[in-house]
Amino acid sequence: MEQLQTLPRLFDYDQMTLKKDNGNSLTGHDILSVDQFDRDALSYIFTRSQEMRELVERAGGCDLLKGYVLACLFYEPSTRTSASFIAAMERLGGGIIPITQGVQFSSVSKGESLPDTIRTLEQYADLIVLRHPEIGAAKLAADYAAVPIINAGDGAGEHPTQALLDLFTIRQELGHIDGLKVAMLGDLRYGRTVHSLTRLLMQYEDISLRFVSPDILRLPMALMNQLIDRGVKVRETHDVADVIEHADVLYVTRIQKERFADPKQYEEVKDCYEITTELMTRAKPNMIVMHPLPRVGEIHYRVDDDPRAAYFRQVRNGMYVRMALLAAVLGKA
Ligand code: NCD
Repeated sequence: MEQLQTLPRLFDYDQMTLKKDNGNSLTGHDILSVDQFDRDALSYIFTRSQEMRELVERAGGCDLLKGYVLACLFYEPSTRTSASFIAAMERLGGGIIPITQGVQFSSVSKGESLPDTIRTLEQYADLIVLRHPEIGAAKLAADYAAVPIINAGDGAGEHPTQALLDLFTIRQELGHIDGLKVAMLGDLRYGRTVHSLTRLLMQYEDISLRFVSPDILRLPMALMNQLIDRGVKVRETHDVADVIEHADVLYVTRIQKERFADPKQYEEVKDCYEITTELMTRAKPNMIVMHPLPRVGEIHYRVDDDPRAAYFRQVRNGMYVRMALLAAVLGKA
């Protein structure tokens, strides 16, 4: 890999002014919720993410985080979130402790508590990325940890780093965020990516949000009330046909079988939406389709050939955004 100093224009970190005093610096902070990010902090992360993209395209990586170790502790399955954090750390020259193949192989299976597991990992690592099935688990871990915790999904709660990469993708694809019409579809009740992205979008001007879901999977009332209080234009419907022609972004999500207490309810709604090439003919020519993935049938494979299908570009952006976040939290950006 090329060395850092061969890219002075982008990565002359000695010359960069760190915004330590204006609330933008993430150095040493946990990342638990999107509510921590104001618009200045968002544009800071997006600028750094763009730099990371250029770094990867030009040099593959650098040694910025050499000597640092990241622990990835995943109590729920993951492909993209875990792999992109690992790739991000590797591309910045750092080391990783990957507990991502199922905590059944760690002492968690012997009954070790989350606080004890966290207090153990922080003896080895400078930063811990945590995914857990319970809402609030990342906050609990952060209360015990001396090193920063990054929330990689806490049950049906939040998934802040996914929302950052989602917003970065919208900006890359469409050039702006203010004024957009965003339709979110699928499991809006349990979908933590939807919850986090919605909260971020609230900060932008003249956003209109359309929520498409079956009745039992509607957006949580508290979040809906927050949107209304903020004056965001919102509408709910069951039918994707009501939104397809006007949307600038169609954000599709999986119906999350594992979050249903009653399997019968899951069976009733599991196949309720399918994005087809036929449906795509009714969408705007510059609309984009996004999905946090994995998909389980809600977007037909033939849609992948449509240039408006942005979901794999979105996956790649996840690595750049997580590179930027790791560097920022470890005080290197
Ligand atoms: C999502 C998640 O885990 O919340 N996936 C992801 O992180 N990219 C969405 C899902 O599991 O459906």
